[in-house]
Amino acid sequence: MRIAVVGTGYVGLVTGTCFAEVGIDVTCIDIDQKKIENLKKGILPIYEPGLEEMVMRNAQKERLSFSTDLASSIQGCGCEAAFIAVGTPPGEDGSADLKYVLAVAREIGRHMTDYLVVVTKSTVPVGTAQKVRQAIEEELEARGEQIPFDVASNPEFLKEGAAIEDFLKPDRIVVGVASERAEKVMKKLYKPFLMNGHPLIFMDIPSAEMTKYAANAMLATKISFMNDIANLCEIMGADVNMVRKGIGSDARIGNKFIYPGIGYGGSCFPKDVKALIRTAAENGYQMRVLQSVEEVNENQKSVLYNKIHNHFAGDLSGKTFAVWGLSFKPKTDDMREAPSLVIIQKLLEQGARVRAYDPVAMQEARHTLGDSIEYGKDEYEALIDADALLLVTEWPEFRSPNFAVVSKLMKDKVIFDGRNIYDPCEMREKGFTYYGIGVKQQVPLLNPTV
Ligand code: UDX
Repeated sequence: MRIAVVGTGYVGLVTGTCFAEVGIDVTCIDIDQKKIENLKKGILPIYEPGLEEMVMRNAQKERLSFSTDLASSIQGCGCEAAFIAVGTPPGEDGSADLKYVLAVAREIGRHMTDYLVVVTKSTVPVGTAQKVRQAIEEELEARGEQIPFDVASNPEFLKEGAAIEDFLKPDRIVVGVASERAEKVMKKLYKPFLMNGHPLIFMDIPSAEMTKYAANAMLATKISFMNDIANLCEIMGADVNMVRKGIGSDARIGNKFIYPGIGYGGSCFPKDVKALIRTAAENGYQMRVLQSVEEVNENQKSVLYNKIHNHFAGDLSGKTFAVWGLSFKPKTDDMREAPSLVIIQKLLEQGARVRAYDPVAMQEARHTLGDSIEYGKDEYEALIDADALLLVTEWPEFRSPNFAVVSKLMKDKVIFDGRNIYDPCEMREKGFTYYGIGVKQQVPLLNPTV
């Protein structure tokens, strides 16, 4: 079986490589010549654990190739499906910009020679597959051709940092189709991924498009809800870690995605929540819950800063802050919508110095933050003479540092833990002033190990 994947960003590259991994012939296409040249040399545009080796292995076996030429990848070569996995950046008003998706659709229409299923893999608003169909039809008409084709919607549910595992062993695969022929092609394509018994769910196209937004919006809602509860816990003298355990053991609620923190970030949640609110508004409906989800998240990005501000009685000028973790979450170098950016910005505005360390996002951070902050060569160097430590991203290597060394290096023993990874009692025993999110500040817990 042969397919083409257009767009070698995060989604496209993972998709193409994982299809190749199970034996499908894949051509990954991008208009960016430099990107394609690099990929041919095994240089990847993104960091994702395990992806580089997988790209190299499949390229060597000639199941995975890279090209800027979409036409020859879909013409007379037995290509059965073309995945559109290009970017849909948010426009000014929060709606997803479809210009790249539709440009690819037009190019497909201009060059296809045989039946093809054109699959949207990028996260696109409900109704996009229909626009893709129209764009292809118009191009075929202009050519005076009547080549049969189908469109399909196949949203991705990949988590950065675990994308390969998510693709190879998915919880579910959702595919929206409008013909049996397309369903057959998609079934054949995904058969190798159904070994763990999880379902391949076929549905109509608008429902598949909506599923992606509903999934991300629900997860973002869980997080904002818990952040609200955490803030209230602090006011009322409750402890959110206890509350989280208490509610998470109810199977109807579940124990995942109920960790309070400093707000969700990344390329998906903020963008998709905005886009869904926008789609609804354009169609005369107000998504009240999601509007609040967004508002809570924006506020939450300032919660750690507010604690710092209060602790230092508003005087941050000349203070040095060590920041551990810059990426929006562990195991990625992605800094998009990272809460670290908001916190650092606020500290700098107040005349503070910031020295940061992140296990993989240093290069990305230098792009974004430049010389406005200093960079430690490791987590300990970032601590030298710091007035406080800010734990911003919960990388595993930050979970159990040598606190004796931490104490020695810091000027003042204050920790602001934005992800609740440290035990408040243990921190106080070690002589730190400790602030978490929604955890008790002063009174020791009766049973600190729970
Ligand atoms: C998400 C979805 O999980 C994935 O299915 C979709 O395809 C793309 O968007 P991703 O953006 O990679 O994936 O990150 P994810 O691991 O879901 O985390 C998103 C954000 O939520 C992070 O900023 C994380 O720190 C935050 N988060 C997550 C919390 O604050 N609390 C939690 O309990 C879980």
